[in-house]
Amino acid sequence: MRSHSIAVLPGDGVGPEVTSAALAVLDAAQERHGFTTTRTDVPLGAEHYLATGELLEDEAVEQLRGHDAILFGAIGSPAVAPGILERGIILALRGAMRQAINLRPVRLYPGVPTPISGLTPERCDLVIVRENTEGAYVAQGSTVHRGTPAQVAVQESVNTWYAVERAVDFAFRLASERRGRLTLCHKTNVLVEAGRLWTAVMEEVGSRFPDVETDYVHVDAMCMHLPVSPERFDVVVTDNLFGDIVTDLGAVLQGGLGVAASGNLNLDGAAPSMFEPIHGSAPDIAGRGWANPAGACLSLAMMLGHLGEGEAAAAVESATAAVLGELPALAGAGMGASTQELGDRVAALVREGSAPMVEGSLMSQLARVMAGLRQPS
Ligand code: IPM
Ligand code: MG
Repeated sequence: MRSHSIAVLPGDGVGPEVTSAALAVLDAAQERHGFTTTRTDVPLGAEHYLATGELLEDEAVEQLRGHDAILFGAIGSPAVAPGILERGIILALRGAMRQAINLRPVRLYPGVPTPISGLTPERCDLVIVRENTEGAYVAQGSTVHRGTPAQVAVQESVNTWYAVERAVDFAFRLASERRGRLTLCHKTNVLVEAGRLWTAVMEEVGSRFPDVETDYVHVDAMCMHLPVSPERFDVVVTDNLFGDIVTDLGAVLQGGLGVAASGNLNLDGAAPSMFEPIHGSAPDIAGRGWANPAGACLSLAMMLGHLGEGEAAAAVESATAAVLGELPALAGAGMGASTQELGDRVAALVREGSAPMVEGSLMSQLARVMAGLRQPS
C-alpha cells in the first residue's frame, strides 16, 4: 500500500485546532482511497520558542527533511514580538526546504458568502503562483547612520533567472492543465530591472507552451481587476511581495482568510513541501472551537494532490466545499458547529464518498503537474 510520511506542525493559537480537524479528514481519506500515512508532531512555534529560545534549529530542519510533506497549522502569539517567528520559522522553512513557489487558489465555492456583490462561483476560479524564496523577502539590505536623523534604510529585491524561471515554468504547466491562460502580474513600468527579467523569462518559457495564452497586468491594476472581474484570470504568476499582497485580496473574494489554502512547493523533490492555511494563529478566538477548518482542509487536499493522491485530493476538496457552502457563518459561534465538528463533517463525507465532486479540481490538477515535473526530461 502507498504510504506517505507527514511532519505535522500544529503551532499556536487556533493552529492545533484546525490541524486536528484536518487530520480527522486525512484519516477518512486514507480509509477511502487506500493509502497510509505516518505522522510526526514537531513542536515549532511561539510556545516552543518561549520555552526553549529555539526557532528553526538545524536538527529540526534535518528531521523535517526526512518527510514527504509538512502539514502546518499557524504560528504566532502576542507574547512574541512581530517578525521573530515569521522570519525565524516560516520564511526559514520556505528557504531551507527550497519551496520555490507558493500556490494559492482563489476559488469561490457555491453557497459561500463573498463581500463582492454579484460575484458567482463560475466567475471566481483562479490560482496565484507566488515566487516564494526571493524578491523583497531575501533579507538583503542595511541601515546606515542608524538612530540619527541621517539614517538610511536600503532594502533590496533579488530576482534570479533561476528562481523566476522555476515559478514561471510551473505556472505554464498548471495553466496547460487548466483553461490555458497565464497572466504575469508585476510593476514593470517602475521596477524596470526586475520587470525586464520577469518579462524575458515569460517569453522564453512561453515559447515551450504555445497553447497557453499569456497576458500582463500591473499589480496595482490587479487590485482593481481581481474583485471586479476575476473571471479574466486562470493562472497568475507573480513575485514574492506582490503575491503576498494580492493573495490576501484573493482570500477575501472566496469568503475570507479562514477559507484560503496554500502550498509551499518544493519542485525538485529534494525536500518536503509545506501546506498551510493562509490565516494566522488568531489568539483572540483560540481554544473556543471558533476557527473555520476549511483553509486547513483545503491545504490538506493540496498536500494530497502534491503527494500524487489526486482522487483523494479532489474528494477532500469536494467534501470541504460541500460543508463550507452550508455554513450559516464563516467563523465564530455563528458557524453553528465547532472546528472539530466541522472537520468530522468533512471526514464523514469523504468516508462515504457522498459529496458532489467539484469540477476542475486544482488539487487533482496539481497531482498531474507534479507527475509531469518528476518525469526525466
Ligand atoms: C503569508 C504571510 C507570511 C508572508 C508572513 C507571516 C511571513 O503573510 O504566508 O502570506 O509574508 O509570506
Ligand atoms: Mg500574507
